[in-house]
Amino acid sequence: MNAIDAGYRHIDCAWRYGNERDVGEAVEQKISEGVISRGDMFITTKLWCNFHEKNKVVPLLKDSLKNLKMNYVDLFLIHWPFGFKEEAPSWPKNKGKSAYSDVDITDTWQGMEKAYDLGLARNIGVSNFNKSQIEKLLLVSRTRPVCNQVEVNPNFNNKRLIAYCKSFDIVVVGYCPLGRIESFGRPGVPKPTMLDPKIMKMAKKYNKTSAQVVLNYLVNNLGVAVIPKSITKSRIIENFNIFDFQLEQKDIDYIESTNKNARVCLASYFGDHKDYPFHDEF
Ligand SMILES: NC(=O)c1ccc[n+]([C@@H]2O[C@H](COP(=O)([O-])OP(=O)(O)OC[C@H]3O[C@@H](n4cnc5c(N)ncnc54)[C@H](OP(=O)(O)O)[C@@H]3O)[C@@H](O)[C@H]2O)c1
Repeated sequence: MNAIDAGYRHIDCAWRYGNERDVGEAVEQKISEGVISRGDMFITTKLWCNFHEKNKVVPLLKDSLKNLKMNYVDLFLIHWPFGFKEEAPSWPKNKGKSAYSDVDITDTWQGMEKAYDLGLARNIGVSNFNKSQIEKLLLVSRTRPVCNQVEVNPNFNNKRLIAYCKSFDIVVVGYCPLGRIESFGRPGVPKPTMLDPKIMKMAKKYNKTSAQVVLNYLVNNLGVAVIPKSITKSRIIENFNIFDFQLEQKDIDYIESTNKNARVCLASYFGDHKDYPFHDEF
């Protein structure tokens, strides 16, 4: 509700996050208050990995729609290219290959196209797909993916995948745009760029915060949509107010120089899955 009041109209959900009910209630409440209409909102949700068989896709989306109390979503994404068996745990960490399904991503895509044909999803796309996985879909799809939601932040600027997606008019939505501060300290996770003292100093010059500088850079210079997450009202407002300043070239150059090609979100437990996306260069 704070986000809608602050002006956000795009809300990122997923069946797996368990946030669909809360988002549905907030949207319903704000519609009843006359603040928004359903048509003002752009609601995304995602197909979880246990439901990659093509005849499971529409039923899973219908479950999401029930949670959201909506009759369509604006965007429906395959959450990850790798699938798990339906009866496996939803995050089968350390369960090994016995938990994996071998459904091909092109079969799952046929289920997504069915959801689109039925009008339950106004747009369909993917998340965490690499270049060759997108290529594979483009070869067989009747309805093309409109979006790839992937990690993008200054530590992992993902430029080659962004350029590839743009060449097919696929919008890139950048997740973990602030580098997911709560993961900092885990092995291999780089320090979020918003904590870099030089970025903090730079932000003062613009009368902004370092989070606002980072989000402005991602939107204006990498050309991606961003979905920062916050449960803090003041930060929700802060993260929305990023469009009224322009970074100087030397500051852009510095932020570019902080790229380390280091991800926060690796899902490396599933590195032995045939469809694990992050072994390829991009
Ligand atoms: N498709 C996928 O596989 C995938 C994977 C990961 C994430 N996502 C999506 O991306 C969204 C964002 O990713 P994320 O939550 O992992 O990472 P993030 O947005 O980079 O970071 C969130 C963290 O930053 C803090 N924060 C937010 N705004 C701040 C500000 N202005 N100043 C200081 N700290 C701030 C938040 O704290 P508080 O909440 O305490 O304010 C939270 O700890 C998720 O909600 C999800 O929708 C998708």
